[in-house]
Amino acid sequence: MRSDVPLATDYSSGALSKDNPEELERLRLLEAWGDADTHTVMKTIGLAPAWRCLEIGAGAGSIARWLAGQCADGSVVAVDLDTRYLAEHGRDNLAWHACDVRCLDLPDGSFDLVHSRLTFCHLADREAMVARATRWLKPGGWLVIGDPMCMPAAWSVHEPIRRFFGALETAWQAQGSDMTRWAQAIPAQLARVGLRDIGVLTKANRLGDKGAYGKLALANLRQEGGYLIGRGLLGQRDVDAVIALCGDPGFTDIRSITVYAWGRKVSSVPSDC
Ligand SMILES: C[S@@+](CC[C@H](N)C(=O)[O-])C[C@H]1O[C@@H](n2cnc3c(N)ncnc32)[C@H](O)[C@@H]1O
Repeated sequence: MRSDVPLATDYSSGALSKDNPEELERLRLLEAWGDADTHTVMKTIGLAPAWRCLEIGAGAGSIARWLAGQCADGSVVAVDLDTRYLAEHGRDNLAWHACDVRCLDLPDGSFDLVHSRLTFCHLADREAMVARATRWLKPGGWLVIGDPMCMPAAWSVHEPIRRFFGALETAWQAQGSDMTRWAQAIPAQLARVGLRDIGVLTKANRLGDKGAYGKLALANLRQEGGYLIGRGLLGQRDVDAVIALCGDPGFTDIRSITVYAWGRKVSSVPSDC
């Protein structure tokens, strides 16, 4: 297994690049798996029709579109590095911006809700980004972040899983993504910047599952597998082995826990943030 292609050091050219022809379908499977939980979180905090919302890392756009419907008298701004899947949204109160959120300059106190799912884990400076997103909230506004806490590859009892996800950990590290430790820290990070009424929802995701997560996991394995083979970190047999294992009726392995956390801005943020 040798390759002269270097590992990506950013999201856009990494394993989940939108240049991959399968990425739109993978994002649709992600939405089918995750949207119900995100809706539950939003209903827990209680959306109001006139809210102004910011969606960070909008992906294929299901949550931005849903928010625009829920906040029909308000508005939604959706940002993503790459907005190629977002062109057809058909809502007057929804605007898209192609940009790196780390360079986004917005007035303080602009939004009632800032939401981001499966995106902060990919930002190298995610703690600083929590503080910036908090400044963009109006007093009383909510910051909601959902990210995965992936099981360390070495903890699996299944050798093909250890091999595949060990290689993937190397790839994530090269592009500055934190898929293992960050999610556990989100509630504490929200509290650190002065947010209050912190809430948490967690969901365990299991390889071998035959439902929405299983379908997403297979799409992830194919796409990430192709990427890892192309960088010489795995061979085709390694990828085939893990995909075959996921189809084995006797196989099961917890892959991740998704942590959704939210907090409300009750006053100005501490000066050190
Ligand atoms: C795993 S996808 C999740 C998409 C969507 N949030 C969802 O859950 O359905 C991560 C998204 O974040 C975007 N993204 C990654 N880094 C970003 C950055 N620095 N600024 C803006 N968007 C970013 C990617 O382009 C991608 O669309």
